[in-house]
Amino acid sequence: MKKPLITPPAPQGPDGAISPRHVAIIMDGNGRWAQKRGWQRIRGHEAGSETVRVIVRNCRKLNIPYLTLYAFSSENWGRPKTEVAALMSLLRRFLSKELDELLARGIRLNAIGDIDLLPENTRQALLGTMEKTAHLNDMVLTLALSYGGRAELLHATKKLCQKVASGLLDPEQISEEDFSQALYTHDLPDPDLMIRTSGEIRISNFLPWQLAYSEFYFTKTPWPDFGEEELKAALTEYSGRQRRYGKTGEQVAK
Ligand code: FPP
Repeated sequence: MKKPLITPPAPQGPDGAISPRHVAIIMDGNGRWAQKRGWQRIRGHEAGSETVRVIVRNCRKLNIPYLTLYAFSSENWGRPKTEVAALMSLLRRFLSKELDELLARGIRLNAIGDIDLLPENTRQALLGTMEKTAHLNDMVLTLALSYGGRAELLHATKKLCQKVASGLLDPEQISEEDFSQALYTHDLPDPDLMIRTSGEIRISNFLPWQLAYSEFYFTKTPWPDFGEEELKAALTEYSGRQRRYGKTGEQVAK
């Protein structure tokens, strides 16, 4: 298990509003953003990677300790080969360009998903950046890559089954905590806020276990146009939500 973050959770934003500790984002709409302008889809992904930089920087500035970005799903392998290759190359460029920024801002890079499926040079670039930032504790930036929520649940189930088969775990005693610990996200808190850009109202196989009690924020803005102001609007909306976890409003207001 990784060391806990030095930065304490940020329950309060600059204006006293409640801030999420973990924000997870489905960065949707790059392709449509480019196509609307008569451009190749990859230009949308390029613009989207600029948005990644802006949002990481702003989350760090706002003291949000965990940010998780859905950068490439298991299902995205089914896209045209040229788009997949361009995305992998974009990711490599992003990793090499952002290393100094991550180091300067105390940001640890983390990844979830079946990263063994990534092309070897992309996988090495990812592992290299993770290693170089492993000591940093001000913020954790997690990239979901070759990630599928159902595959993650199966992976966790198999891990637990192996423990049961080897006599290390009593099936009757398996707890939610045991299950959480078997997930790729074992060292992350569950997201408090999940944002999806570009108008689609679904979670698309993103963190199905972990989002069970998260607040959702959907915006029509495509990811390349999502900026500081939009992020703040999502955080403001979050701060007005009452999280009841199945209890009554009166109980949680106490
Ligand atoms: C969804 O938009 C987005 C993706 C499948 C890839 C997300 C990638 C980036 C934001 C850039 C690279 C990432 C990093 C971390 C550098 P879409 O293509 O499905 O858009 P559409 O729904 O309009 O077609």
